[in-house]
Amino acid sequence: MKITVVGGGNVGATAAQRLAEKELANEVVLVDVVDGLPQGKGLDMYESAPVEGFDTKLIGTNSYDVTAGSDIIVITAGLPRKPGMTRDDLLNTNAAILRSVTEQAVPKSPNAIIIVVSNPLDVMVYVALKVSGFDRHRVIGMAGVLDTARFRSFIAMELNVSVEDVTAFVLGGHGDSMVPLPRYTSVAGIPLTDLLPADKIDALVKRTRNGGIEIVNYLKTGSAYYAPSAAAVQMVESIVKDKKRILPCAVYLEGEYGMSGTVVGVPVKLGKNGCEQIIEIKLTPDEQAALKASADDVKANIVKLAL
Ligand code: LAC
Repeated sequence: MKITVVGGGNVGATAAQRLAEKELANEVVLVDVVDGLPQGKGLDMYESAPVEGFDTKLIGTNSYDVTAGSDIIVITAGLPRKPGMTRDDLLNTNAAILRSVTEQAVPKSPNAIIIVVSNPLDVMVYVALKVSGFDRHRVIGMAGVLDTARFRSFIAMELNVSVEDVTAFVLGGHGDSMVPLPRYTSVAGIPLTDLLPADKIDALVKRTRNGGIEIVNYLKTGSAYYAPSAAAVQMVESIVKDKKRILPCAVYLEGEYGMSGTVVGVPVKLGKNGCEQIIEIKLTPDEQAALKASADDVKANIVKLAL
């Protein structure tokens, strides 16, 4: 198993470290355009191997030649947000970066599964899909796992229970119109709606929607990376181990949920073939309308791309 992580910033480097520490690959290649950055971080991480006790090789490089034959490519390259910016403000800059990365990486690893992490996430999945020419089951975006993890954390804090017992559902685009679904959210099987009054749930939903900017506002010079990298690595693990976990991921829709030609977060089964199934859950008319509005926001940005 060989995994390439593109982008040696905080998300990429932390993802590479997590992948290595979990020994999810024999080899992890960290690629970045900045001379010395991936080499330094890769070597530093590898020097932690004797202490942490992992045998994953870590290689930092500026060259896509070294990435050849990767089974999975995690793309984190792109600019992060600053305070006052929405994810959509990154559209054109990051679309150009995604295009260049995909064009360089895909010929070296034509059978890889691509996991996109760069923002605006859903549109970047579309860019990687179109530029790679891959089937849609091999181009998957990380967002729902992160948004769900945030929702789960906030619920656990509110109820003072283990995060492990909280399962949550967040659909839609990774943007201001994401769709947390309290009706499908539970604590040890008990519906959230039985545990908290509506106004409390609404506050947690709102905090989840603003989860990314909450961190940006604290950091001021960048965006979140511990939770985003953990979320991407959970997706990798489900693929590498063929676990067939059901995780909310951003995929290109071809008729599912009554939508086509757009990318949006929906529950998918992740296994060795990538997105092996898109699961269509029953939505109320309000939930369906919220998902459609979120998908339409993504589509409006797809239309702005000059691909
Ligand atoms: C966030 C950014 C990474 O949600 O999109 O933190």
